[in-house]
Amino acid sequence: MNALEIESLRVRYGGIDVVSDVSLAVPHGRTVALVGESGSGKSTIAAAAVGLVRPASGDIRADGVSVVGAGKQARAARRRLQLVFQDPFSALDPRMSIGDSIAEALRATGRRWSRAERVARVRELLRRVRLDPDRADERPSVLSGGQRQRITIARALAGEPSVLIADEVTSALDVSVQGAILNLLRELQEELGLSMLFISHNLAVVRYISDSVCVMRGGRLIESGRTEELLDRPQDPYTQDLLDAVPVLGERMAF
Ligand SMILES: Nc1ncnc2c1ncn2[C@@H]1O[C@H](COP(=O)(O)OP(=O)(O)O)[C@@H](O)[C@H]1O
Ligand SMILES: [Mg+2]
Repeated sequence: MNALEIESLRVRYGGIDVVSDVSLAVPHGRTVALVGESGSGKSTIAAAAVGLVRPASGDIRADGVSVVGAGKQARAARRRLQLVFQDPFSALDPRMSIGDSIAEALRATGRRWSRAERVARVRELLRRVRLDPDRADERPSVLSGGQRQRITIARALAGEPSVLIADEVTSALDVSVQGAILNLLRELQEELGLSMLFISHNLAVVRYISDSVCVMRGGRLIESGRTEELLDRPQDPYTQDLLDAVPVLGERMAF
């Protein structure tokens, strides 16, 4: 059984298929990258996985249980998948302290938390993302982009996911902090046994973090394979074009 399985997924907007017949799997503890040009359907797959949009057909399973539908089982399965948003600036409510933001995300566990448990768990999550737990009362406005992204990661972890779905999590960040966030994700994966669907158009980042890669174009999966192999010897001309479009590509990013 895989941590995440997407089977023959189809998502339509206004009568148009924006995702057609996509199947992929993320094995436990592994990172699968989803790449492709803007508009190819990557974020739509993430949205379907966490229940923001309903598939027209196909299935999405977390640890073997379908997350599609309104039933109790599907809702519980959906909690196994947590999304880390692209833009750490809009993802956090500026009026809320960072501690309250994380506490709010604890609701995704579906359990009741006493005040003391909540405070302790928020501190633990801040520590997990390498932030000082004594900063829980601060507002997001005093944080840097990288620190805000750590908070959005802490919020995702609050839901106790089996799979993190990271959608362009480093795209809005300065290059200098991208590496730190990628390293944090790798460390968390190790520490917590997380699996990850890592969505990115940055193939250098993908090479650094993923075990395998799925290439999307126009809502379809056109090629997939182990990261090194696929990036070094792409079979599809479109994948080659994607590689050519990124100047740093082919070189290993050193963080
Ligand atoms: N809420 C929406 N309503 C209508 N069309 C949408 C919506 N969200 C995305 N789309 C369209 O679906 C396609 C795939 O978008 P998206 O999944 O965001 O691509 P990507 O993340 O790969 O850039 C695009 O053509 C986009 O315009
Ligand atoms: Mg997107």
